Amino acid sequence: MNGSTINIRLMKADDFDAVVGIDEKVRKASRLAYYDLKFEKLLESNEYVPTSLVAEEEEDGTVVGFVMGELYMGEYGISQEGATLDTIGVDPNHQHKGIGERLINEFVDHLKDLGVQKINTLIDKNDSELMHFFSTNRFSPSKTIISLERSP
Ligand SMILES: CC(C)(COP(=O)(O)OP(=O)(O)OC[C@H]1O[C@@H](n2cnc3c(N)ncnc32)[C@H](O)[C@@H]1OP(=O)(O)O)[C@@H](O)C(=O)NCCC(=O)NCCS
Repeated sequence: MNGSTINIRLMKADDFDAVVGIDEKVRKASRLAYYDLKFEKLLESNEYVPTSLVAEEEEDGTVVGFVMGELYMGEYGISQEGATLDTIGVDPNHQHKGIGERLINEFVDHLKDLGVQKINTLIDKNDSELMHFFSTNRFSPSKTIISLERSP
């Protein structure tokens, strides 16, 4: 970060390339189709409440991190149980400077202001680093949801 100021703001259409680029760096694989779909929902559904955020350098607007979630405004208003954090990523050159924590905090505060009481996320059980990151940020194993799977 070299002392530069990082601002957090709502994600917009122009952030597509930066988000895909950061995700590709951290995962070492491209997920273009996944983000195509995510951005389509983000911008086109009128039932969709904006929750996704980016972290950008104040100086030149470079996007260095993002968090994406989903929250739908359905027939009965905002679903209080229904918020998810789908994906988070911070550019490897900017990690370990508290940007991930700031993204989570602002994401959670924003959802809290909208009346959401619980936010769910799914992570790989074997990813101990990510598990540590989420538990530092006060996420804990769900008491009400378990992930089920079977082979086809
Ligand atoms: C997980 C991830 C988002 C964390 O981002 P980050 O910006 O590095 O997160 P933070 O800086 O808030 O916290 C990371 C660590 O840096 C430490 N840290 C925070 N500020 C710091 C600072 N100023 N100086 C040194 N260390 C610092 C934190 O204490 C934390 O350490 P800990 O893990 O021992 O608790 C990032 O590593 C990432 O993109 N990972 C890969 C993507 C991924 O797998 N996403 C999941 C899909 S849902």
